[in-house]
Amino acid sequence: VRSGDPGAAERWAAELAAWRIPDEILAAAPESPYGFPPELFRAHPDPVETVSRERALSALPASGGWVLDVGCGGGRASLALVPPAVHLTGVDESPDMLAEFARAADERGVEHREVRGSWPSVAPDAGQADVVVSHHVLYNVPNLVPFAVALSAAARRRVVIEITDTHPWVPTNALWRQFHQLDRPAGPTADLALSVLVSAGLPARTERWAGAAIEADRDHIVAMVRRRLCLPVEREAEVAAALPVDFQMPARSMATIWWDVPSG
Ligand SMILES: C[S@@+](CC[C@H](N)C(=O)[O-])C[C@H]1O[C@@H](n2cnc3c(N)ncnc32)[C@H](O)[C@@H]1O
Repeated sequence: VRSGDPGAAERWAAELAAWRIPDEILAAAPESPYGFPPELFRAHPDPVETVSRERALSALPASGGWVLDVGCGGGRASLALVPPAVHLTGVDESPDMLAEFARAADERGVEHREVRGSWPSVAPDAGQADVVVSHHVLYNVPNLVPFAVALSAAARRRVVIEITDTHPWVPTNALWRQFHQLDRPAGPTADLALSVLVSAGLPARTERWAGAAIEADRDHIVAMVRRRLCLPVEREAEVAAALPVDFQMPARSMATIWWDVPSG
């Protein structure tokens, strides 16, 4: 068990704030650099065996389990739990992602409900579930403690979070230097996220593992990185040339952060 680190939550927020894109670069961006393309977050037709999936499965009842997926995207985290899960609730800020989540859940024949909005504000609409999952969302959340405390309050049994070991945009830092002569931050990290959660009194622990190589469509990835770099579409070939061939989003070094919720 780690000791508390009272400054961790403030450091987490400050390290995320350091990713702010300078105004002059942002002003020249032809499209918003933010947001995630649903094409890159489709659920796999056959669930991939991962530490996160295993930790969630072992907390679900053998039949009839409910799962709440916060920042669900296309539902990759929760659809991998069907069966035994019989009901999924997806929470996301993005209507396009929720539409993809609903489509994939229909295709899998599992009952589902969508809640559009920002966690934790929409937590009262989402209700409770046996297991709450939240994959690849934390690096979007400056105010981590209320986010995580609300995950815990929504779980009857367990919370399972998955994030990359370091901030997901760190692997593109060389491109920021190349295209904008700009140094980008090296963090925050999953270690710091754990410190924040433990300091908030949550009995969280981390397991690290290597994700599989993803057969994602490289054109979509290049387009997302080019957009994030605030560059016009005409420069996509330059971005493609600069991006390492093995670049994938998310990167392969993963952390599963999970805790059990006391019963009763
Ligand atoms: C990187 S995607 C991950 C999607 C999915 N969980 C996965 O692992 O494939 C992050 C998702 O979280 C959503 N999101 C980010 N912050 C959120 C918040 N505070 N409340 C609800 N959704 C959020 C985004 O709209 C996006 O769909």
